[in-house]
Amino acid sequence: MNKKLSKSLSLKGKTALITGSSQGIGEGIALAFAEYGADIILHYREDQDQVANVLEEIGEFGVKSSVIRADFSKTGSVASLEKQLNKKVKPDILVINASLQIAKPWEQITQRDFDIQMNVNVKSTMLLIQRFSPSMIQKGWGRIITIGSVQQVKPHPAMLVYAASKAAVLNMVRNLAMQLADKGVTVNNLAPGVIDTPRIREPLPEVDERIMKRQETPLGGVGEPLDCAAMAVLLASDAGKFITGQNIFVDGGMSL
Ligand SMILES: NC(=O)c1ccc[n+]([C@@H]2O[C@H](COP(=O)([O-])OP(=O)(O)OC[C@H]3O[C@@H](n4cnc5c(N)ncnc54)[C@H](OP(=O)(O)O)[C@@H]3O)[C@@H](O)[C@H]2O)c1
Repeated sequence: MNKKLSKSLSLKGKTALITGSSQGIGEGIALAFAEYGADIILHYREDQDQVANVLEEIGEFGVKSSVIRADFSKTGSVASLEKQLNKKVKPDILVINASLQIAKPWEQITQRDFDIQMNVNVKSTMLLIQRFSPSMIQKGWGRIITIGSVQQVKPHPAMLVYAASKAAVLNMVRNLAMQLADKGVTVNNLAPGVIDTPRIREPLPEVDERIMKRQETPLGGVGEPLDCAAMAVLLASDAGKFITGQNIFVDGGMSL
């Protein structure tokens, strides 16, 4: 029997860097990549205990793993993150998952709120791609996956800047996908709806009831990190080699 599909879904021999993988969707993607055989570089901002737990779980898959730390709201953070990597390690797969959302009624958003969300969500995305794509291009194989949001098309009224930042990243994904297509590097955006992670338990300010009614999920309930991880495995593997420049919602139909 020729197990063509399971072979092409394998991530053996690849190294994946997943930002914001100390919890939530990033953690789910890191664990799924390890299950499919990739060596894993975990990244976190401040929760050392949390990332240590994920590292231990990754160890059970028998793949190589390491941890790096950076706060993308700080200037120089992407350069410092690269310095923490072993010089010989060049990620084949980059998942840009860490993000910052500040929920506030739009009239109260400060310039600092705007800058910090744009720096973490948009600027660091570009800097990470600039840093890590040259080695992918050199190898003629690479995968870049940005984690977007259903808010690209259905913005939450209390997240004006966050939603705009996710839409901006999708535009960069389309642009770069075209420029990297003939170099063996695919670039895609995986856009979750509401997924059960610590983030969705953060309190939100009161907003217009009528608008909130439009934020429902047709399939009902909320998703789990594994729902996103399954799509990420496909996009990261050889099985996803003919998919680039796409925005893929994993949202229970919320974007409809
Ligand atoms: N959960 C949802 O319903 C949902 C819906 C749509 C889109 N998304 C997107 O999916 C991605 C993951 O979301 P999640 O719910 O899994 O998030 P989460 O549970 O809040 O985890 C966020 C991760 O990013 C790291 N992080 C936060 N701020 C950072 C910063 N300034 N610099 C570097 N790292 C930082 C955190 O590290 P520390 O814990 O160490 O701070 C953590 O590992 C995000 O891009 C989010 O926008 C999520």
